[in-house]
Amino acid sequence: MAEKQTYPVPADFVRNAHIDRATYQAMYRRSLENPEDFWAEQADRFLDWRRRWDRVMDWDFNEPRIRWFEGGELNVSENCIDRHLTQRGDKTAILWEGDDPAESRRLSYRELHEAVCRLANGLRQRGVRRGDRVCIYMPMVPEAAVAMLACTRIGAIHSVVFGGFSPHALRDRILDADCKLVITADEGIRGGKTVPLKANTDKALRECPGVETVVVYQRTGADIHWENDRDVRYADLIADTDRECEPEAMGAEDPLFILYTSGSTGKPKGVLHTTGGYLLHAAMTHHYVFDYHEDDIYWCTADVGWVTGHSYIVYGPLANGATTLMFEGVPNYPDASRHWQIVDRHRVTIYYTAPTAIRALMRAGDDPVRQCSRSSLRLLGTVGEPINPEAWSWYHRVVGDGRCPVVDTWWQTETGGIMIAPLPGATDLKPGSATLPFFGVQPALMDADGRELEGEASGNLVIKSSWPGQMRTVYGDHQRFAETYFSAYKGCYFSGDGARRDADGYYWITGRVDDVLNISGHRLGTAEIESALVLHPDVAEAAVVGFPHDMKGQGIYAYVTLMAGRETSESLKEALIQLVREEISPIASPDVIQWAPGLPKTRSGKIMRRILRKIAADELDSLGDTSTLADPSVVDDLIENRIRPE
Ligand code: WTA
Repeated sequence: MAEKQTYPVPADFVRNAHIDRATYQAMYRRSLENPEDFWAEQADRFLDWRRRWDRVMDWDFNEPRIRWFEGGELNVSENCIDRHLTQRGDKTAILWEGDDPAESRRLSYRELHEAVCRLANGLRQRGVRRGDRVCIYMPMVPEAAVAMLACTRIGAIHSVVFGGFSPHALRDRILDADCKLVITADEGIRGGKTVPLKANTDKALRECPGVETVVVYQRTGADIHWENDRDVRYADLIADTDRECEPEAMGAEDPLFILYTSGSTGKPKGVLHTTGGYLLHAAMTHHYVFDYHEDDIYWCTADVGWVTGHSYIVYGPLANGATTLMFEGVPNYPDASRHWQIVDRHRVTIYYTAPTAIRALMRAGDDPVRQCSRSSLRLLGTVGEPINPEAWSWYHRVVGDGRCPVVDTWWQTETGGIMIAPLPGATDLKPGSATLPFFGVQPALMDADGRELEGEASGNLVIKSSWPGQMRTVYGDHQRFAETYFSAYKGCYFSGDGARRDADGYYWITGRVDDVLNISGHRLGTAEIESALVLHPDVAEAAVVGFPHDMKGQGIYAYVTLMAGRETSESLKEALIQLVREEISPIASPDVIQWAPGLPKTRSGKIMRRILRKIAADELDSLGDTSTLADPSVVDDLIENRIRPE
């Protein structure tokens, strides 16, 4: 079995790493046995506080109520920038590589400080105050990070919306958070193609009366629609502003940002993170899991629109005074060597990406990798979905030349930062396993009846006690927070993932056990895709499930029932796909649409998704019991007309 194969910690890692095995074990034990002291020490070590906290932690998962470092005051931008200025003023904070290989920029900590202060002052001039919500809908340019940090400087709450989301998706997020200002760009550029961000924003804002100002960063100089009393150029907004901006002293539990993520039901929910605990968790995990050292050049390939971009492009690395690389483009443009060219050009030492990218690069073969030296690399990381052992081994052997440990990091938008992952100087690796919990994290496995499983076992993954980076609520809907995460297993946070624990106590994440899909590492809910499909007047009902997909991890399989008398056609399929793209994003486009005269339902009308999943995966032997269905014959039709995805 693959898990028999282990990769011991390389000798040079043991020598130079922050943490060796014995230290990990001792610190982990202490973090559980004496959490108050442990976290107080870490909070002192990693962050600068304006005022010390009154109480380290105060939480109760039954209510649920979660508070860390209450009474403490700090400012995130001050921790990410100002405190580095004396030692690292000229050090590169953000190293930007454009979509076009000829374009690159560097912002030193001093320059970042000025940029953030100026924008923060500009936002204040436009009436943004502490606690106001600001939407950021930006391409991968340094100004996206500047915008986030400028919000934190004045205590505004940012809500970053991934630039791949459609105008409708943007509108819903702006309305839910009641944002008063949007920061966007004329266009984005990815893989040589432009993305019409300002035009999308204009469309979204037709139905968002609360937005008073749109700040437009000029990325391409394209011709764009302009509303004089609402729109302002980024360059004009900051032109006459002061280069200093006094940071707001924020409470540790004041909201820092909202980030929308998909759940198994309803519309995406606004995950709310707060100031002190989140920043501590991001900084600390960045330091230990990536074994970060002062002279590292660190690159996380995520987009700032996802939580990985928040915690591991912006907040974690900058809190630690790191040089963080930000890449505007895609792995295969202009060619499949692009990532390794960037690694060589900037002497990247730590590289953190997603399994979907690794699989795509693996398919391009070894040559594009071997053409580049990659000699600067010392550590590789992965996040976002389970990594298959083949991809893990290729990543380790080819990309890392067998020298670089691979840290497989399990976490979620909700957890704020990494929860289960190896520490490269402490943990022997097993391909496909996220290995062991981070400090303070108490994972457990539960069976269907809510009993905790001991030893080697498979079950639903829960976390038994709070950690500083944990989300605090669903924005505007605390009840939904309680129901989604704390109702399945009493007194525990339920992750929605399944996992196995092996004889060494290593965790193997098996994927979602709910109706959340993971498409190329992008998280989507089946319910939101179904809602988009049923908007079409010809559609009576739709059921969406995931199926195993070689490249994307999961693909999207949609069963669609039409209104009586409506004809199926290829053009209708096209129209449905278009509808999903418009409502959500191209990333949510179904791979397969099967016309379903009926859906398998229980007598109480509940769709049996288990059966739909099995048909989509072509696992017909294990359909299970269909006798409880209201009409078992619909299954025969679905099987007969099933579509085998390419
Ligand atoms: C999945 C991304 C296996 C998991 C940071 C989780 C993983 C969801 C891993 C969260 C991993 C993330 N191994 N699965 N190393 N990392 N996942 O909120 O299903 O976009 O619940 O956060 O991604 O996705 P999200």
